[in-house]
Amino acid sequence: MSKLWGGRFTKQTDQLVEQYTASITFDKAMAEEDIQGSLAHVTMLGKCGILPQDDVETIKEGLHQVMNRIQSGDMNYSVSDEDIHMNIEKTLIDLIGPVGGKLHTGRSRNDQVATDMHLYLRKRVVTFAGLLVQLQEALLKQAKANLDTIVPGYTHLQRAQPILFAHHLMAYVSMFERDIERLTDSYKRINTLPLGAGALAGTTFAIDRHFVAEELGFERVYENSLDAVSDRDFIVEFLSNASLIMMHLSRLCEELVLWSSTEFQFIELDDAFCTGSSIMPQKKNPDVAELVRGKTGRVYGHLVGMLTVLKALPLAYNKDMQEDKEGMLDTVETLDGALRLFAPMVETMKVNRDRMRQAVRQDFSNATDIADFLVNKGMPFRQAHEVIGKTVLYCIEQNKYLLDLSLDEFQQFSPLFDEVIYEVLQPENVVNARNVFGGTASVQVEAAIRRAEQAIVQS
Ligand code: ARG
Repeated sequence: MSKLWGGRFTKQTDQLVEQYTASITFDKAMAEEDIQGSLAHVTMLGKCGILPQDDVETIKEGLHQVMNRIQSGDMNYSVSDEDIHMNIEKTLIDLIGPVGGKLHTGRSRNDQVATDMHLYLRKRVVTFAGLLVQLQEALLKQAKANLDTIVPGYTHLQRAQPILFAHHLMAYVSMFERDIERLTDSYKRINTLPLGAGALAGTTFAIDRHFVAEELGFERVYENSLDAVSDRDFIVEFLSNASLIMMHLSRLCEELVLWSSTEFQFIELDDAFCTGSSIMPQKKNPDVAELVRGKTGRVYGHLVGMLTVLKALPLAYNKDMQEDKEGMLDTVETLDGALRLFAPMVETMKVNRDRMRQAVRQDFSNATDIADFLVNKGMPFRQAHEVIGKTVLYCIEQNKYLLDLSLDEFQQFSPLFDEVIYEVLQPENVVNARNVFGGTASVQVEAAIRRAEQAIVQS
């Protein structure tokens, strides 16, 4: 098989080398982007008078034919043509003859591959932002349905203070909002055109990079040709953003797994999002949540892998950089799979309000509030903390909760206690007392929901 770069060689490539150096098995994922870039490039070559218009039309026609083959699954990819760029060019030449060889004028695979990756990620990042909004909407729906569902809030996984379940869910809405912001911010760097940098130094042809940028919808053109072909920051940034999204999903997964256990019974995931056991007939396992939690690891791995590939790489292009693709493509698939499942899984989960409410009545998560009660009566907080600590200890010894104590019992610990304490200790009042911006009081959570809905409408 003759190579597009075969002129300088007197021997065939070793077969193992051919297989080892080829990227076609995975970079064919960017086939459409490669053609999109070529169409813009050849249009520019015509417009700048570098190629006669006749040739430009023939090449464009040929590229459309190749695109049809790709889209209909009729494209024959060959490892001996190494990568997607040369596979397409070779097919083009087969289809339209030697004139196809003019396409690569003023261009290198180095600026071509970078362009393909920019085009590819640009599209995906927009999809991911959309999927995150859908997840936010599912969380908001559950939050609105649970504005009066009180649940223990935890620190150290020990019951801490009661909160609205809606407030807990809204924390995730905030996390995903930051993820959307990060993706949106990364877009301007992804939306920068490398093409026209040539192999590394620019090109001797009088090309118009800004025209190509406009054709392809890029906002900017890389300033420096060396940087254009060796920059993979935008991929690292994507992998980092994806890692954060997966980490957020994984934390929610962990909570869903815990909450759906018999020990908690706070939620029940819909049957459609669970699987069974091949031996234990009673089992209903939260596999999706577990798997998303598990797959978070591979995304972190791709981030560290990419950073390590780039570390100490001299400018400009090095073959090491071909290692940028599999991690990126796998991350795109992993993130896509997780996000598509998550919104419906959250939306269809059943919330066991009674169980949550019952949990709040059987703990000491209202203890801070009676300490605050004494503080409002003039006792220094540190002293109130000590008094309530002793009261809780007494309750534990008596096998009681705070609301079970008589006023006499309360007053043994401090004469400042009065009847009002029974009101203060009610879970609703405990929740609504935290009426500070960002707090769990109903009015604050309702306001937070309104702000989040507004942000979605504006985006
Ligand atoms: N398949 C290569 C890659 O993915 C394309 C660029 C190759 N350039 C080169 N000079 N070998 O990085």
